[in-house]
Amino acid sequence: MQKSRGIQRFLINLPRSRESLKKEIKTSENSNKYYWNQRFSVERKIWGENPSKTAFYALELFKKYKIKSILIPGSGYGRNSKLFSKNHFHTVGIEISEIAFEIGKKYDPETKFINGSVLEMPFNDEKFDAIYCYNTLHLFLRGERNQFLKKCYFQLNEKGFIFFTVFSEKEISFGRGKEIEENTFESKPGRPTHYFSKKDLLEHFKEYQIIETGILEDQENHGEIGKHTHKLRYIYAQKLLN
Ligand SMILES: C[S@@+](CC[C@H](N)C(=O)[O-])C[C@H]1O[C@@H](n2cnc3c(N)ncnc32)[C@H](O)[C@@H]1O
Repeated sequence: MQKSRGIQRFLINLPRSRESLKKEIKTSENSNKYYWNQRFSVERKIWGENPSKTAFYALELFKKYKIKSILIPGSGYGRNSKLFSKNHFHTVGIEISEIAFEIGKKYDPETKFINGSVLEMPFNDEKFDAIYCYNTLHLFLRGERNQFLKKCYFQLNEKGFIFFTVFSEKEISFGRGKEIEENTFESKPGRPTHYFSKKDLLEHFKEYQIIETGILEDQENHGEIGKHTHKLRYIYAQKLLN
């Protein structure tokens, strides 16, 4: 029998039990979805409510370049999107975890969140002036990274901008766990992490004119590890015309 809409809405707001999450992975090929749903269901707003320092940095660049609309692939529960939406950018987030998606809709109601995979973009025919993507590209293996970036290119207006941050080879966790592809390690089971050198990152963005790239230190305080600093590689670049 079909559940009423009211009950469905009620159920979707409840944190999932470990049992139902286990069942979900059996029917889902997407280990990222399982990993992040599990984390968000237990830790909720994992990184707190403050945006990453890199979002403030990108905000200034976006203002300088007169950007109006921003796509945020892997938007989580909206801690970064909220910085852009409250600064009057039209902001759209794509998030695979239903749990983060539900938290995000309440936390940042000005952003339009879409619950889906960045590998399945586009979800409509909207194009954007810019993409801000925080620590999501490094979660994929080589083939999927290329697929994701092709989709991002397609989602951008002519001469649109990208601002991506990724784990660099200077991260403290670099080399931890099984190396499943070159510079990609499974430091946590089911979560591959690719560590980017400068050369590697530039190769991923060769269809763009590079404006800036480098390392940004980003502090976090969460979970068992407590306070720690990420050494993230960032890239700010503009789409070249074909
Ligand atoms: C490291 S977290 C960063 C979250 C967010 N940017 C923040 O800083 O608050 C990576 C995010 O990407 C999401 N993600 C992973 N794979 C995805 C996919 N295939 N499509 C959409 N989102 C994905 C995760 O659920 C998670 O929210």
